[in-house]
Formats: sequence, structure tokens, C-alpha cells
Amino acid sequence: MTDRSLFIKAQAAAEAAYAPYSGFKVGAALLGKDGRVFTGCNVENSSYGASICAERTAFVKAVSEGCREFEALAVVGNGGKAMPCGICRQFIAEFCTGLRIVTGDDPDRLETYDIADLLPEAFRL
Ligand code: THU
Repeated sequence: MTDRSLFIKAQAAAEAAYAPYSGFKVGAALLGKDGRVFTGCNVENSSYGASICAERTAFVKAVSEGCREFEALAVVGNGGKAMPCGICRQFIAEFCTGLRIVTGDDPDRLETYDIADLLPEAFRL
């Protein structure tokens, strides 16, 4: 699975986003070390704090299906570049000391980041 293919899966996942309040549709595609891909979208709620981000949707789907080791995560917001929010960074850090995060405005010119750089000194119990 190339970063480009993963990114395109994230774009497709965003189509299912339920974002009537913000209008900002986010998609995520999470590649497990076993080769499985778990997609997610943001699902908002009229009680705004009850909303969940696309990245956490993908992680919850993966972990609940027995996948806890990951290779890469692609994220798309309104079709283009989107960076994981702070809560998602902490959520990712629970499972990954390093994870390639792929995003961008163009599938042929993607940007990559590492969770270790996006959330240094993550909280751990
Ligand atoms: N959102 C995500 O899905 N992922 C992020 O990393 C940041 C924000 C969603 C939450 C909300 O539904 C909308 O984008 C606007 O904040």
C-alpha cells in the first residue's frame, strides 16, 4: 500500500463524514502492520463535545478489530491537507511511538510527518 493509495482511501472515507455543524469533512485511512486498512470520518453531534474526529474513528475501528500495530495514517480535510488535532495526537501516541502521518493538497505531492515530532513527550501513565 503506497502513501498515495492510502491518501486516496482517506479522501473516499471523508465522503461519509457527518459534519452538519462545522461543514468540515475529514477522512482518515489507517494502515495496520498486518496490511489491513481501517478508514474513518468525523461524526459530529449537536452536543458539540460529543463529536469524534476521523482519526479516532479509524483507530477505534482498528483496535476493536484486534489491530494495534500501525504503519501509516493518511488524513484529509475538505479534500486537502489536514493535521491531527491535539486529542488525536495523544490518542495515536497511546499505540504508536512512531507513526508516519500522510497529508497534503495533492496525492502526487504528499507531506509526511511523524507522530513523535507532532507530539513530543506524549503523556503516559
Ligand atoms: N476534525 C477531525 O476529524 N480531525 C482532526 O484532527 C481535527 C478536526 C473534525 C472535528 C470536527 O467535526 C471538524 O473537524 C471541525 O473541527
